[in-house]
Amino acid sequence: MSALFSPLDVGGLRLRNRIVIAPMCQYSAEDGCMTDWHVIHLGHLALSGAALLTIEATSVTPEGRISWGDTGLWSDDNEAAMRRVLESVRRWSDMPIAIQLGHAGRKASTEKPWSGGAQIAPGEEHGWQTVAPSPIPFLDGENPPLELDEAGLARIRDAFAESARRAARLELAAVQLHGAHGYLLHQFLSPLSNRRTDRYGGSLENRMRFPLEVFDAVRSAFPADRPVSMRVSATDWVEGGWDVEQTIAFAKALEERGCAAIHVSSGGLDPRQKIPVGPSYQVPLARAVRRAVGIPVIAVGLITGFEQAEAIVGTGDADMVALARGILYDPRWPWHAAAHFGASVMAPPQYLRSQPYQHRQLFDSGD
Ligand SMILES: Cc1cc2nc3c(=O)[nH]c(=O)nc-3n(C[C@H](O)[C@H](O)[C@H](O)COP(=O)(O)O)c2cc1C
Repeated sequence: MSALFSPLDVGGLRLRNRIVIAPMCQYSAEDGCMTDWHVIHLGHLALSGAALLTIEATSVTPEGRISWGDTGLWSDDNEAAMRRVLESVRRWSDMPIAIQLGHAGRKASTEKPWSGGAQIAPGEEHGWQTVAPSPIPFLDGENPPLELDEAGLARIRDAFAESARRAARLELAAVQLHGAHGYLLHQFLSPLSNRRTDRYGGSLENRMRFPLEVFDAVRSAFPADRPVSMRVSATDWVEGGWDVEQTIAFAKALEERGCAAIHVSSGGLDPRQKIPVGPSYQVPLARAVRRAVGIPVIAVGLITGFEQAEAIVGTGDADMVALARGILYDPRWPWHAAAHFGASVMAPPQYLRSQPYQHRQLFDSGD
């Protein structure tokens, strides 16, 4: 029996296996509204046999978008556009769909990556003024963010809750908060980007305050029988920055508040980061968090091999693995992994005839 293909309950959500599709920005929305690209992109990933599909970083306010092509969930138009995409995808797949809600803080207002990805200054086309815990730009020479005051913090916290209510109406199965990759919540956590002297800066307790307030607001806005999880960067990979010990304290505080799972990534806060990139490079971070909490932990980052993924789950380094680039490259990765281990995956009835003759138990059509 493959550990990778054993089911798991995450905060009341039953997952068929341990393979999660990580959130991936597509930079293809218009004014935050999903487009036909999202039907194609999410539609084909929804046929992949993974246990859970996570919608890309979706901003809770217009200025929280990384780029002007990001998806959002701040308006009725955003919600209607997402509903249309979800209706199409759900017509042909029963894969549970989660959404990552986020705010980019000082890393907002950028060009799309394939157009260079640079910051766009306020006043220029597709640019706006960014906000952050402290007025420190991500890169030297960039337009600095405005420091958020208490009213600004309350507005963003409420926007997270409002987006979570929209996610609930869209019958999304789970919400993941984006606390990683140097975006707003991570900017509060890290002493490198948070230099505040009020109750939201300084001590670890103070730096965790805003992200935990956002968690509480979202947890109470989203139905109690559906999970809310957090994605973290477990280290900034910079001396004197956010690190795994602080991540463990944060994960424990989240667990106490009813967080259903912790998704462990790393980096993205500071351009001085030195990341030891390689297969499973973030798994030791996931393992450290998993040893400290009782809730499921997801590992991510260059997990591309079937035996590699099986070993991560099987040895207890993490409860689930998330795939991003690997599943874009091979959207049938879970099919091939299931074939490799003699397990089965959901496949649409239209494709059942593609089952290779040597894998007669591979497809489960859900009947
Ligand atoms: C095209 C693309 C878009 C991404 N967008 C997001 C995102 O919206 N939110 C997020 O937390 N991470 C995002 N990431 C990071 C991935 O979720 C993942 O953590 C990272 O790519 C490492 O996993 P991998 O080696 O399987 O690709 C993105 C990655 C890629 C390649």
